Amino acid sequence: MKTHTLITGASQGLGKSIALEFANRKMNLVLVALPNSGLPELSEFIKDNYNVKTHYLELDLSTSQSCHAISEFIQEKQLQIKCLVNNAGVLSRGLFENIDEQFILSQIAVNVTTPTLLIKLLLDNMKSVAPASILNISSMASFFALPKKQVYGATKAYLTSFSRSLGKELKPHNISVTTICPGGLNTTTRLCYQNRIMGWISREAVLNPEDASKMAVDAMLDGQTLLIPGFINKCLMVLDKILPEFIKDRLAERELNKLPRLQV
Ligand SMILES: NC(=O)c1ccc[n+]([C@@H]2O[C@H](COP(=O)([O-])OP(=O)(O)OC[C@H]3O[C@@H](n4cnc5c(N)ncnc54)[C@H](OP(=O)(O)O)[C@@H]3O)[C@@H](O)[C@H]2O)c1
Repeated sequence: MKTHTLITGASQGLGKSIALEFANRKMNLVLVALPNSGLPELSEFIKDNYNVKTHYLELDLSTSQSCHAISEFIQEKQLQIKCLVNNAGVLSRGLFENIDEQFILSQIAVNVTTPTLLIKLLLDNMKSVAPASILNISSMASFFALPKKQVYGATKAYLTSFSRSLGKELKPHNISVTTICPGGLNTTTRLCYQNRIMGWISREAVLNPEDASKMAVDAMLDGQTLLIPGFINKCLMVLDKILPEFIKDRLAERELNKLPRLQV
């Protein structure tokens, strides 16, 4: 069988950990990320060390042409996509008035348009090998009103909402849609540093990509709808329902003000 797991943003961070997690479970992979991000080397490494088939595509996922290129590649190679992981995402932080217009459009394209279109283009393929699974990587930011994370949070709110509705629609086709909403993740050097200087609650909520990826893949293969990883993140969801808005605003502002004045 030529069934494969397709992972976007597989070159580093959470996506790379998810790729290794699937390889460990002996699943063949299609890895996607930007050109010059070490994807050929990662693909070769996984193939040699995990005894699975790997393919890679170096594409800019901020364009819809890239989604069509992925779909054509899958058709040409006659691959069957059993699992699809929409992980590629553009993070950001900054005042809305200061964020570059092109950056915003590209962030919306990578975080919103690409996962939506990829699912659309690969759906028939996935239906043909059902039971199949989709994992969308959202964020805790999708639930909260966070100044300086307005567009990022909104893109993730879309993904969380889209996944919930789509999951219900695809259930009769035996395709599950799982959303994982991590808080902080120790992925890039800058995020590791930022996560260390945050307050106690935020620090405790942070996960390593290796732990988050295992939880995410388990939840996906289990057909779980929504995964809030970690005890503190689960508590934050409860607090969000009971705390008055002005207290939540003060807590969020205090945390965000601890961050250095750099854009992520
Ligand atoms: N880190 C956190 O604290 C955190 C928290 C909650 C949710 N998340 C979500 O988790 C996911 C992974 O985050 P991460 O921290 O692992 O991010 P990361 O280390 O920055 O990795 C992002 C991945 O997406 C790829 N990517 C970004 N823009 C792309 C584009 N235009 N075309 C193709 N690939 C592109 C990157 O490829 P290149 O290597 O080629 O650039 C990379 O593989 C994202 O969806 C993010 O929103 C992260």
